[in-house]
Amino acid sequence: MQRFPGGSMSLTIAVQMDPIERINIRGDSTFALLLEAQKRGHRIAYYTPDRLALRDARVFATVQPLKVRDQLGDHFTLGEPARVELATFDVVLLRQDPPFDLAYITSTHMLERVHPKTLVVNDPAQVRNAPEKIFVMEFPDLMPPTLITRDLAEIKTFRAEHGDIVMKPLYGHGGGAVFRLTRDDLNFGSLYDMFANTFREAWVIQKFLPEVRDGDKRIILVDGEYAGAVNRVPAVDDLRSNMVRGGSPKDTQLTPRESEICETIGPALKERGLLFVGIDVIGGWLTEINVTSPTGIRAIKNLGGPDVAALIWDKIEKKRAGR
Ligand SMILES: Nc1ncnc2c1ncn2[C@@H]1O[C@H](COP(=O)(O)OP(=O)(O)O)[C@@H](O)[C@H]1O
Ligand SMILES: [Mg+2]
Repeated sequence: MQRFPGGSMSLTIAVQMDPIERINIRGDSTFALLLEAQKRGHRIAYYTPDRLALRDARVFATVQPLKVRDQLGDHFTLGEPARVELATFDVVLLRQDPPFDLAYITSTHMLERVHPKTLVVNDPAQVRNAPEKIFVMEFPDLMPPTLITRDLAEIKTFRAEHGDIVMKPLYGHGGGAVFRLTRDDLNFGSLYDMFANTFREAWVIQKFLPEVRDGDKRIILVDGEYAGAVNRVPAVDDLRSNMVRGGSPKDTQLTPRESEICETIGPALKERGLLFVGIDVIGGWLTEINVTSPTGIRAIKNLGGPDVAALIWDKIEKKRAGR
């Protein structure tokens, strides 16, 4: 860390992310974070998860210096690769996209070796402990009726009670394989078989929330505090609000209920070192707490909302300065 007159500092940052050539810079939150870091004079080194190595007790990565530009088709320049001990960085941004699988879990184990001396955002052990659709189950008053199982009898009982339900994978993302089943839908049996054959783990059965028509709100919390929000309204012919499925971003304010949700879960996030979190709320019900690589901060800024990337770096800089 290098201090400049006036108290500002230059940090060395390593970003663990998916291949940078493939990201959609218009929507990618990581890219927004990198642009802001560069603007502040922080030095960025880039690596993909396959360049991590745990050798005895030390963690190494083969990294490349990275420059970013907000220019479609020409958004980055990489320098020469070098093998570096990860503990020499001030900050590691863990920004790997799902799937949240054993590869992901393995990299959290490796990063755990350098945290918190090197500040890993988010705390890798806590990321591992907080799969987005399981973590919400800690807040039963905030979430819709939800069941996680692969047991047919359990699902049938839940369905009889709630009628209209949604079935979705536990570790899914981007709206993949999210189904709505009405009370009398005869496809239930086949869909059950398909889920049972496809997934080894339990999956999610949830009460269908008709308010989804008005959107699934992504709310960003930085170090446990509300930082910005964007509503995502599904296309007329789709259940799913995800922008990759044709959902459209709309600017939005928090309702009193949504503020209450933020105030309730905020302290738990802060305590766990989950500095950058995106929660999803449908009709006033919390459905996901995303701690891996939440999207939305570019959309929030584009719609005239707060600069969440700036808030995140303010927080990280404060933490590194020990304040
Ligand atoms: N219980 C539900 N009621 C109504 N719509 C839902 C429900 N669960 C999911 N959806 C719709 O499906 C989309 C994707 O589901 P989500 O649980 O957010 O999984 P993913 O991790 O794939 O984004 C949501 O944005 C919403 O539009
Ligand atoms: Mg979602």
